[in-house]
Amino acid sequence: MKKTSFEGLAPWYLLLETLSFGNYLQKCRISFISELKVVKSVLILGDGNGRFLESFLKSNLDAQIDYLDLSKKMITLAKSRVALIPNKTKVVFIQKDVFDWCFPINKYDLVVSNFFLDCFTFKELEHIINKISLSLKPGGELIYGDFNVPKSYFEKFYAIPLLAIMYLFFRITTSITAKKLIDPTIFLNKEGLNLTKEKYYLGSFLKSQLWIKA
Ligand SMILES: C[S@@+](CC[C@H](N)C(=O)[O-])C[C@H]1O[C@@H](n2cnc3c(N)ncnc32)[C@H](O)[C@@H]1O
Repeated sequence: MKKTSFEGLAPWYLLLETLSFGNYLQKCRISFISELKVVKSVLILGDGNGRFLESFLKSNLDAQIDYLDLSKKMITLAKSRVALIPNKTKVVFIQKDVFDWCFPINKYDLVVSNFFLDCFTFKELEHIINKISLSLKPGGELIYGDFNVPKSYFEKFYAIPLLAIMYLFFRITTSITAKKLIDPTIFLNKEGLNLTKEKYYLGSFLKSQLWIKA
């Protein structure tokens, strides 16, 4: 089976995102950035070209961030995006597959996953969320932003075909394993995380949630 790779898409990612959704994905990513507790130790998963990282560094001056992404080109884009932001925060860029990375236990005040968990199958999602939960301190927060299957029939009418086209596109261009969007709620609940806040965008096609580990 072909391995997932965002190398070909990386240079076009921002343009495609902007043409498709304007600035709404970014609004979704940073929904809760001003409402976080004091966070010193942060894990950012699959942030690609670094748009969440950029906003986080502008509003949080002193933290320690582990930034994990599979794609070398995405990490290069993220590094150049944040290079000139004056900040005491130390960012460690880790170019690795999330399945090969040894998640530290009980380390993070905050884990961030925006438009990342949608790349995975049911089984993979269960595994990653278990690792996320183990890596969070009790009381630690998870920012989860992603696409969402709306509840209303009217919204489903456009959302379901749009998601099908997007998954076809990403499976062809990046070989992601997921064939459809999976809601991670059952895994997050199982791992002892509690939903505290949520916001929707584009009707309810985009969802941003803040979870807290018990
Ligand atoms: C759909 S993009 C989303 C990028 C960014 N989070 C955003 O909000 O636009 C998914 C990102 O996850 C990374 N990724 C995909 N599979 C991965 C894996 N198995 N391990 C680590 N990173 C992965 C990709 O390289 C890419 O940067």
